[in-house]
Amino acid sequence: MSDPTSQPNPSTSTTSGKPMDAIMALCKRRGFIYQASEIYGGINGFWDYGPLGAQLKKNLRDAWWEDMIMRPCWGRKGPNGREVTCVPVETCIIQHPKVWEASGHVAGFNDPMVDCKETKGRYRYDHVSVFVPANGSPGDKPVFAYIGDQPSEAKQRKKAEKTFGEVTTVALSSLPKPWDRVIGPDAEKPGTLTEPRMFNLMFDTIPGAIRDEANRAYLRPETAQGVFVQAKNVWDTTRVRVPFGIGNTGRSFRNEVTPRNFTFRSREFEQAELEFFCHPDESHDWYKFWRDFRMEWWKAIGLAGDNLILREHDKDELSHYSVGTSDVEYRFPFTAPGFGELEGIAHRGNFDLTQHAKHSGAKMEYNDTERGEILPNGSRRGERYIPHCIEPAAGLDRGALALICEGYTRDESRPSPEFMKFHPRVAPIKAAIFPLVNKDGMPEAAERLHAELNNRFWRLGAIEMDEKQSIGKRYARMDEAGCPYCFTIDGDTLKDQTVTMRDRDTGQQTRMAMDKVKGFLEEKLGV
Ligand code: GAP
Repeated sequence: MSDPTSQPNPSTSTTSGKPMDAIMALCKRRGFIYQASEIYGGINGFWDYGPLGAQLKKNLRDAWWEDMIMRPCWGRKGPNGREVTCVPVETCIIQHPKVWEASGHVAGFNDPMVDCKETKGRYRYDHVSVFVPANGSPGDKPVFAYIGDQPSEAKQRKKAEKTFGEVTTVALSSLPKPWDRVIGPDAEKPGTLTEPRMFNLMFDTIPGAIRDEANRAYLRPETAQGVFVQAKNVWDTTRVRVPFGIGNTGRSFRNEVTPRNFTFRSREFEQAELEFFCHPDESHDWYKFWRDFRMEWWKAIGLAGDNLILREHDKDELSHYSVGTSDVEYRFPFTAPGFGELEGIAHRGNFDLTQHAKHSGAKMEYNDTERGEILPNGSRRGERYIPHCIEPAAGLDRGALALICEGYTRDESRPSPEFMKFHPRVAPIKAAIFPLVNKDGMPEAAERLHAELNNRFWRLGAIEMDEKQSIGKRYARMDEAGCPYCFTIDGDTLKDQTVTMRDRDTGQQTRMAMDKVKGFLEEKLGV
């Protein structure tokens, strides 16, 4: 494979006290996340979800869909005093190539890259640092370039220390060109790094039988543009009126130059984006409303605490079109003590609709019949305008990763120290039922309870039945899967119709009537 970053190189950072290696090992061992194409050595930037991970991610996607589309913002009213309206669309991964010209992705979705003529490696220019002598100049000796957190860092440091003794680090961009004394991160000889060149992050393909350049199309790098190009169809063909939102979820693709940190920066990932259209005069209120709701939402599904922050962008960080942007950020083990973006909430103004109007010739004006002047005959002439858009754009893979990192807990005082503290709403397994022993009517009673719970909760996740191995081992298995409640059927169950409920987080066991178990779970799962 010619891709120099083809070998997965996940981070092994332990900075927040939660070791990423242990989290990744548990993800593999228990079937949350696997390397894509693992039996062929993996393919960098691509990850598959196993049974537990797929269900966890589905629960996250469902929670987003329920709270953003089906009953937006938990039924609370927007800044206009009315209930919030949102509808879904499902748009294609491949759109007309002009969509990406209009959106600015063809011209602007670029990273500056340097290539290595010796190794054919390609590096993001702003990620390349260089070891130089701590005191004085290197003279005519070579200096050693590396990428932080990659194997080149330790290797180049060793060589640099052997050459200079004490070393310090500077950005490649701070060294004068040409870099004929710089040894590239994976190279042996100096002077092999090229000038930085722009590299577009969109994957491309040629649909149809004729491989003609003119037919080149792109895999979408975001789901948002699918919404903008259909927004007019939605307001023309349905009963929704501004203000309203259109949600779109699905795979997006970015040819990230340095995919890293497990699923955090992948080349194929899933987004859940809402484009909320409103009158320009109301847009600031809606921006604040969505920014605050999205922060609350992530807390409500289990990311409450110091690891989650809302960060308002400085003016110089804003995209050219953005009037205001905030990020919901999570302190991942590999970003600690810093934070990594989970979701961006952007006030995009009317940039996108205006661009698509310009590039396609379609009219993107909205006729707002609730506004505008009253005519002498008493009728109203609607106000015409291009709606402004507030965009909460979440990443479901980063979301799932944050839930996994937050849930991962080690407690040496427990018989089995590792467990996943998922919020019950997202937990892939909702409950487990264990007959203490496989005799004396216990399996039959367990099966009856399993059938009752399964009938009620199957839509939300698995209800497991486990009769193998010791009870301690069964608890440990469920702890690692993040199952919040286990119910054990024992000798007393047959006498007094009670079961033992064991709580994953406290390890405490409580006796409860078997016919109260369903109600107990309904309350805990909020259904
Ligand atoms: N429409 C706006 C947009 O796409 P973005 O900040 O580029 O904004 C939104 O992406 C979210 O998508 C991010 O907050 C992140 O959660 C997720 N995301 C972006 N690039 C990603 C990648 N390479 N791997 C995994 N998730 C990614």
